Amino acid sequence: MRLILLGPPGAGKGTQAKYIVDKHAIPQLSTGDMLREAVAAKSKIGLRAKKIIDAGKLVSDDIVIGIVSERIDQEDCAKGFILDGFPRTLQQADALGDMFEEKGLELSCVVELQVNDDALVERVAGRFTCGNCGEGYHDKFKPPAKPTKCDRCGKEEFTRRADDNEETMRTRLRAYYKETAPLVGYYYAKGLLKGVDGMGSIPKIASEIDEVLNSL
Ligand code: AP5
Repeated sequence: MRLILLGPPGAGKGTQAKYIVDKHAIPQLSTGDMLREAVAAKSKIGLRAKKIIDAGKLVSDDIVIGIVSERIDQEDCAKGFILDGFPRTLQQADALGDMFEEKGLELSCVVELQVNDDALVERVAGRFTCGNCGEGYHDKFKPPAKPTKCDRCGKEEFTRRADDNEETMRTRLRAYYKETAPLVGYYYAKGLLKGVDGMGSIPKIASEIDEVLNSL
């Protein structure tokens, strides 16, 4: 199974990807995570990407297309993968189509998480992550059992993203509506789009996505 999780910043793509990884044993390929890893490693790409990410703008198409193309050639992607945060522009979507054709792959579906804008801002503002194992949390919607300790790995290494503030969030939302939202129509026209209401509880949305995936 090869699927795309599409939706604005804070829609729950990363949260839902983790459920799909556990259930279907395919990796999550998050271009946001890959870019943040490059930033942390201070690689050439990371140094170019840092300012752009911190400002809430989109990193150039050629960089992300290159990263994704290399990643899906790795062995753990042989049985399928979840694309989280890619494609994000029409040019990236076309490049992905070409990539799949060259590699002889087929896209199973595009799951669009539909969430209203006020909820997005609230979700992003309260988000934090375990720096050790990557488990995601939320101050209000998904707090850990003990305030400073990760439920999954037990470490005390919570971090917040530099781009999770109100001003940057506004720029990220603008980038989404201008550059990424046209992909909804793009994949609808290809018969691949499956809309899911992203306003319910995290487990409820996970089970709706599961229904979609089981029907493929
Ligand atoms: P990226 O890391 O992809 O960020 P994003 O798309 O803005 O998405 P987020 O990670 O913010 O949100 P999400 O939908 O995963 O939500 P989450 O599950 O965490 O990209 C960051 C930057 O990298 C971009 O701005 C850009 O600069 C660059 N970039 C990345 N890919 C690129 C590309 N292809 N091209 C160019 N540039 C690129 O949930 C959010 C919070 O809400 C969490 O705290 C969670 O616990 C909570 N939550 C989740 N679901 C629910 C629910 N149902 N109810 C209540 N709370 C919930």
